[in-house]
Amino acid sequence: MQKLKHKELRNELKNGGITKVVPEGIHKISFIYELVQDAYPDLCDDDYHCEWQAPQPAWKHSVRNALGNLKGKGEVDKDGLEKGWWRITINSTIIPTANELMILDATAGSRSMWHKNHKYNPCVLFLDQRLEIKGVGKGVTMPRKNPDGAPIPQQPGWECAPDILGDFTHLEQFDDETFDHIVWDPPHVIKKSNGFITMKYGYLGDQWRETLANGFKELWRILKTKSTLQFKWADNDIPKNEIVKLFHDIAGNPIDYITGTQTKKSIGASIECRKCGDEIRGTWFLIYFKFPEDRN
Ligand SMILES: C[S@@+](CC[C@H](N)C(=O)[O-])C[C@H]1O[C@@H](n2cnc3c(N)ncnc32)[C@H](O)[C@@H]1O
Repeated sequence: MQKLKHKELRNELKNGGITKVVPEGIHKISFIYELVQDAYPDLCDDDYHCEWQAPQPAWKHSVRNALGNLKGKGEVDKDGLEKGWWRITINSTIIPTANELMILDATAGSRSMWHKNHKYNPCVLFLDQRLEIKGVGKGVTMPRKNPDGAPIPQQPGWECAPDILGDFTHLEQFDDETFDHIVWDPPHVIKKSNGFITMKYGYLGDQWRETLANGFKELWRILKTKSTLQFKWADNDIPKNEIVKLFHDIAGNPIDYITGTQTKKSIGASIECRKCGDEIRGTWFLIYFKFPEDRN
């Protein structure tokens, strides 16, 4: 009888059940179990254990089995994710692999700077160092106490759900010259605070020079020649020219952005930099182009 229930659960999940009860995004297996048990309480009996996996309830085996089956069909994904995490993709038959991708967003955050038609473009790999979604706490290991709690109380719909967790200063998983375009919008605030800005966008810390220099070096390495890196910088704490100088000196050859502009919103609203007293210019968009070596 119990065995039949687990078969029923597995078939139900394989035939669309997973995407009915689990939202699109990256989830820890324990969160997927919770959602499945809520949706199918009669099929998820905690007291019945597999002989070979006691004390784990047998129904959890059926969930993993269904996920494995859907992975085989390309409907859910595990590649590139840490153990115990699954990426659920709804209505998508294309699961990108690093080799096929052309664009990298190295600091995905909530993807707010992306046009709505490209937020889930399979040609874009969204990377961030953190996962903060409803039901999962800060970072990747701490479950949120209130499973329905939003990561940012003031913005319940906000989430940081990258395709892949990673650190832009260590991208060894990618070969040299992999991407045709890279978007890089690192945190721009040095010090951590309890405020909304660092909660939403992160902070750099005192090692900001090293972090940004290593990040630029690593992104430049994985950017294809004749391709572009789009760098966004808000110079509240660190003047843009200081960053530009940092990148200029990095990779043997001098590297300068080819075009740059400020957001209109910040023009005319300048104030003094807290650190150096210079005028603050606002948010910058700078485009770097990786010229072939003989044309640099
Ligand atoms: C300014 S926010 C990016 C906002 C994003 N562009 C958007 O449209 O929502 C900076 C992001 O960089 C991420 N971050 C900070 N340090 C990182 C690192 N070393 N590697 C990868 N991501 C990092 C933060 O978690 C944060 O989500």
